[in-house]
This record gives sequence, structure tokens and C-alpha cells, in this order.
Amino acid sequence: MYSSLADSVPLPSLLPVPADANALSPAIWPASVTRTADGHLVIGGVDVVTLARDYGTPLYVVDEGEARARARALRDVFTAAAASIGTTVTVYYAGKALLTGAVVSWMLAEGLNIDVCSPGELRLALAAGAAAARLGYHGNNKSVREIRDAVRAGVGVIVLDSEIEIDRVAEAAASVGRRQAVRLRVNSGVHASTHEFLATAHEDQKFGVPLERAVELGERIRNYPSLELLGLHCHTGSQIFDARGFAVSAERLIRAHAALAATAPLPELNLGGGFGIAYSAEDDPAPITDTVQGIMSAVAAACAAYGTLVPRLAFEPGRWIIGPAGVTLYTVGTVKPVPIPGGTRHYVSIDGGMSDNVRPALYGACYCVRLASRVSTAVPTLVRVVGSHCEAGDIVVDADYLPGDITPGDLVAVPATGAYCWSLGSNYNYFLRPAVVAVSAGTARLMVRRETYGDLYTRDADLSAQPWEDSHD
Ligand SMILES: Cc1ncc(COP(=O)(O)O)c(C=O)c1O
Repeated sequence: MYSSLADSVPLPSLLPVPADANALSPAIWPASVTRTADGHLVIGGVDVVTLARDYGTPLYVVDEGEARARARALRDVFTAAAASIGTTVTVYYAGKALLTGAVVSWMLAEGLNIDVCSPGELRLALAAGAAAARLGYHGNNKSVREIRDAVRAGVGVIVLDSEIEIDRVAEAAASVGRRQAVRLRVNSGVHASTHEFLATAHEDQKFGVPLERAVELGERIRNYPSLELLGLHCHTGSQIFDARGFAVSAERLIRAHAALAATAPLPELNLGGGFGIAYSAEDDPAPITDTVQGIMSAVAAACAAYGTLVPRLAFEPGRWIIGPAGVTLYTVGTVKPVPIPGGTRHYVSIDGGMSDNVRPALYGACYCVRLASRVSTAVPTLVRVVGSHCEAGDIVVDADYLPGDITPGDLVAVPATGAYCWSLGSNYNYFLRPAVVAVSAGTARLMVRRETYGDLYTRDADLSAQPWEDSHD
């Protein structure tokens, strides 16, 4: 039915043809993943064919055990590494990666605080039962009202992102007679991602205050009786695979930290998030213990060099915790062989796309894919998994191999979609946002229901009210 591998060239050239196109790399998939005797994928003890039947596709599946184990593991790694340099650590889960009621309660139960960056995230975290004192609040453009609401709610720490915000937060805190703990976000001039990092005098982006103004602005914060300066903050980048970029940022921040600590107590230093994960076989992040220990060694060395005590540390990982816990299920709609120079690429169209995973279109992110409703010994064929949106760039998996008999009706699964997929989702082309389901110990539980057409149209003032057909078949 399909062209065989013999008459196609394995493109791109760096992507090896897998010996087994059904194999599930433990570096990418949740640890719980297995297959039934008839080849169905099982996540958290739940058969994905049952999940697709009960909840429809596309479907975000979140392995609760994986998410919680990763939160715990990271907390323990940070705690042990911090102890090795004589300090302590607070870990904030970066809610922007994926924030739902269940995720908040998992992270709190595993001893993490929560980092929010908008009124919507703040309200959700509070509604999910987070004590305000366990929240950190980010954002480069917090309005006066937003700041007032956060201060009144009793948010633990507000991260000041600009000079203007110093005055805004000070006034909001003074108006309710509160002393608000704050961090000052500093642009360290380091931008890191994956294996690369760039260390410049300035980084040309919107977040934080320039490094050279950190001391002056820190002193200015201290002049406000309604503010308590905990320390400096920086976020070095995303999807970082080793300690080097963090280490350069830490060194730069600790120089400013030491200058501020010389004039008054400065108990803390926050080095942000950005710890990378494997999305496909090409990704090889260093073991997290090595990265964290590398950061701690850099912190200890810089503190010694600048003659200051090692402060209490804080981090804000999101992706590393929740990314590998998520898998998205799709149903294949069409399979189209397209001749390309030297061979054939099969375009596999699925029932979601850039509205449920915009990262490939937004960042050129690379994902991989596996057949989920069966296994097959057919010769692997080069595929591009594409969505159903009206955009040529609507690509979910740019290049991978699936068994050559991939066919409409098959279920496919894309791993490592727990972070920045649902949270960056949209209704482009009036697609419905998929449901989010937690799986654990053989049981599935709805975290967020699938959107309905009623949800979609209800805000349109010019549509007449009618019973929208919400069938997803
Ligand atoms: C300030 C800040 N902290 C933490 C994070 C979380 O990053 P990650 O999910 O890559 O760990 C981000 C992500 O953009 C961020 O901007």
C-alpha cells in the first residue's frame, strides 16, 4: 500500500531509521509506560484506547505518578546539593508550564511552592487551595490593580521587574499596612538554551533590570519601609541542558548580591528555571544531579570570591517537572505520501495540531511520535505529523518514523507534551481545547473537561443562543 523504505531516503540525514518504530525510549516517555499484549499503549496503568474512547481525541494525558515523582526528585536533588554548600533551598513550580487545580495540589503536596505570572494564574492557585504565602508572583507589566490584589491576597513574594514596579508595589503594600517581600529581577546578560549560551554585557529583552543597576535599585527598594528585599532574581533561559549558563548568571548576580549584602542583610538568591528535558532521541540533557551540583559549586565559588555568605537559594522549574509527565493522544485522519527529493515523506494528519501544541510552530520545537493503538512490524516510514489547521506550518512532529502501515483510525501518541502545550493552547480555527486527564495506578480522572461549542460561541454577542451540537465524533 505504501512505498517501502527501499525507495525512500531517510531524511533528515541525522535522523536514524529506528530498528523498532514501536520502541518507547525511557528518556522521553513516562516511566509507567508499557504496552498490552495487543500493543495498546498503557500510561499510569490505563489503556490509551480506553482513554480515547472515554474522553475523545485529541487528549492530554498526564501521568500523576510521574509528575509527582519528578517534583519530589527535583526537590530532593536541590535540597541535598544546597546542603553540600551549607545552605537551604525553596523550589517553586513554574505554573506557566501547566497549571490546573490538580497540578497545584500535587506540587503543594510534594513540598513545592508555586510561581504564578498573571492574575489568572494567581486566582487559580488560590482557588486550588494554595496558601498565598507559598506563591511567587512574576510579570513584566503588572498593573496597579493587579499588584494591589496580589498584595491584599498576601502573596509571599512579588518579583519586581522594573523601576516603575518598585513604586507601585511599595504604594500598594503601604496602603494596606503590609511589608511586602520582594525580589528584584535582574537581566544577567546570559541567554542559555540547550547546549548553547550567550554571555553578553546586555541581553536585549524585556524582562528584569540591567545588571549594572541592580545595586542602585536594590538600595532604592530598601528605602521603602513597606518593602522587604529578599534578594536578586534571574531566569537564564529555557530548555538548558547543563550548568554552564546558570553558572555564568550566578557569578554575575552574586557580584551584585555581595555588594548589597555588604550594606544590609540579603537572605536569598533566586536563579529561576529552565532545566531541559528530552523531547526526541537527539536531546541529551546532562543528569539533573550534575546540573544542580554544577550550579551549587558555581554559587559557592562566587560567594567565596566576593567574600559573601552563601545565601538561601530559590529555583523555579516548570518543564522539567511536568513536561515528561504529559502525552498527547491523537487520531489519524489521513495519510498522504508526498514525493520529496530522494524519496517519500508520509504526511500523517491528526485531529489536533497547533491549537493544542504550538511549540513546533512557535519555537521550532522537535517532538517524536509512536503508534499507540497497536504495534506493527511494517517497515518504518518517514513521517511528518501535521495538524488539521489552515496553516502549512501546522506541524506537530516534523520528522520521525512510524510503521509503514500507519492508517486512518490509528491512535498516535506524542510524548513530553506536559509543559507549554495545554497552557499555550488556542482556539485557532474554532478548534475545541482538548480535555486533560490524569492517570494513576490504573485509574483515569478528568482534570479539565474538553471545551464545548457552547463554550466557544457564548461570548459572541451576535450569535443567537442555540443548543450547539457538542458531539466530538
Ligand atoms: C521567570 C521564569 N521562571 C521560571 C520559568 C520556568 O522555566 P522552565 O519551565 O523552562 O523551567 C520561566 C519560563 O519561561 C520563567 O520565565
